[in-house]
Amino acid sequence: MTKTLISNGTVVSATGRVQADVLVDGETIAAVLRPGSALLGFDLERNVDRVIDASGKYVIPGGVDAHTHMQMPFGGTEASDTFETGTRAAAWGGTTSIIDFVVQYPEQDVLGQYQLWHEKAAGNCAVDYGFHQILSDVQDSSLKAMDELIAEGVTSFKLFMAYKGVFLSDDGQILRAFQKGASNGAMMMMHAENGAMIDVLVQQAVEAGNTSPYYHGLTRPWQAEEEATHRAIMIADLTGAPLYVVHVSAKQAVEQIATARDRGLNVFGETCPQYLYLSLEEQLGAPGFEGAKWVCSTPLRSRAEGHQQHMWQSLRTNDIQMVSTDHCPFCMKDQKDMGIGDFSKIPNGIGSVEHRMDLMYQGVVSGQISLERWVEITSTTPARMFGLYGRKGVIQPGADADVVVYDPNGHTSIGLDKTHHMNMDYSAWEGFEIDGHVDTVISRGRVVVDGGEFLGRAGHGQYLKRGLSQYLS
Ligand code: URP
Ligand code: ZN
Ligand code: ZN
Ligand code: ZN
Repeated sequence: MTKTLISNGTVVSATGRVQADVLVDGETIAAVLRPGSALLGFDLERNVDRVIDASGKYVIPGGVDAHTHMQMPFGGTEASDTFETGTRAAAWGGTTSIIDFVVQYPEQDVLGQYQLWHEKAAGNCAVDYGFHQILSDVQDSSLKAMDELIAEGVTSFKLFMAYKGVFLSDDGQILRAFQKGASNGAMMMMHAENGAMIDVLVQQAVEAGNTSPYYHGLTRPWQAEEEATHRAIMIADLTGAPLYVVHVSAKQAVEQIATARDRGLNVFGETCPQYLYLSLEEQLGAPGFEGAKWVCSTPLRSRAEGHQQHMWQSLRTNDIQMVSTDHCPFCMKDQKDMGIGDFSKIPNGIGSVEHRMDLMYQGVVSGQISLERWVEITSTTPARMFGLYGRKGVIQPGADADVVVYDPNGHTSIGLDKTHHMNMDYSAWEGFEIDGHVDTVISRGRVVVDGGEFLGRAGHGQYLKRGLSQYLS
């Protein structure tokens, strides 16, 4: 088995940092040692196959992106990254595990869809992958399938309060699914937007001739997010199910989550880089149809209303626990452009899987979060939230050797002609500059990215059979 020594770096965890050497043996971490690599007089450096000099650099657990949609059929098309291209891009950006969503559309068999997603992913992934299950047709057979999926390592289930006819569940269906989650230990995930309100606003806007991408955001107001978040929390409280609210963008929704947590409920929130950095005003300012690049749901919020600043604060105060991408990429040509003349036909989603670690590191540079919090919200908490902790999310003996060597003196310019490995014809992050750089990425002991070179391969990534959440009180 290959032995690798990552020497003399600053090993950063969710709780602290220390100068240390990390010994990797095969696919796992064998030891975290005092720098100098001397173990009982035994010179490690001379007895390993490879030494990676991490002097002056951070050594962190590989990123865990708990919200991606590779090749998902959606909005009349399919997300443009395959499991192969999407996980390769993830690796480039220091993310060594993804959790993607199996989709049950109405009238579909849950377990059949689960098998289908395995067929899409198996043999194609560059990094490890797990699955959540989307339920869009809550009936007896779907509820029964939840038990079977937990045994398969799918321990979290997403429901939607929007997208009538595609994903939407009514409150009774949500209640039933949550009752099941309360009994079998599943984490219930919610897309919290009031779809009925949104559908009327969208129809009124289109009829009034307000068809540009900007109206996507205006027709999905924060009130629709706050109301749905509150309703989801009430159903979680009533049933006793743990609740994880995905892609939170409105500060009022954050307050709902914070209040629920203060009451002692197992309620958690996820945000995404787009809700920290991008705004409705910038989308309005984009020329022509360009604003379609940032059409996603929940939508970008107004900077004048202070959502972005509040979201950074909520990461510091732990009102929001973690950051995923909601990576759901579509090209402008032949995908987003389906919505020219009618914003409601723009496929919803932004591609960011490659840039999450860098974008969140920039939050360290700008003083929004600490170095330790960076590791916590991008790796450790996602692993704990979704039953991967111990193998993922931490650098300790016995853990999978998923390690990123991050250079705080490096630099990353994001853009289509620069750092871009996602299968998209534009970058939602064009022009972003990061005062740091992903230098080396190790996935289960294998160096998959090193010094600007991709060394991984499709099929290295393995399916992650997850346990129940390790984050519940
Ligand atoms: O716009 C988004 N978020 N697209 C992906 C589907 C979802 O709701 O997560
Ligand atoms: Zn969603
Ligand atoms: Zn999503
Ligand atoms: Zn570098």
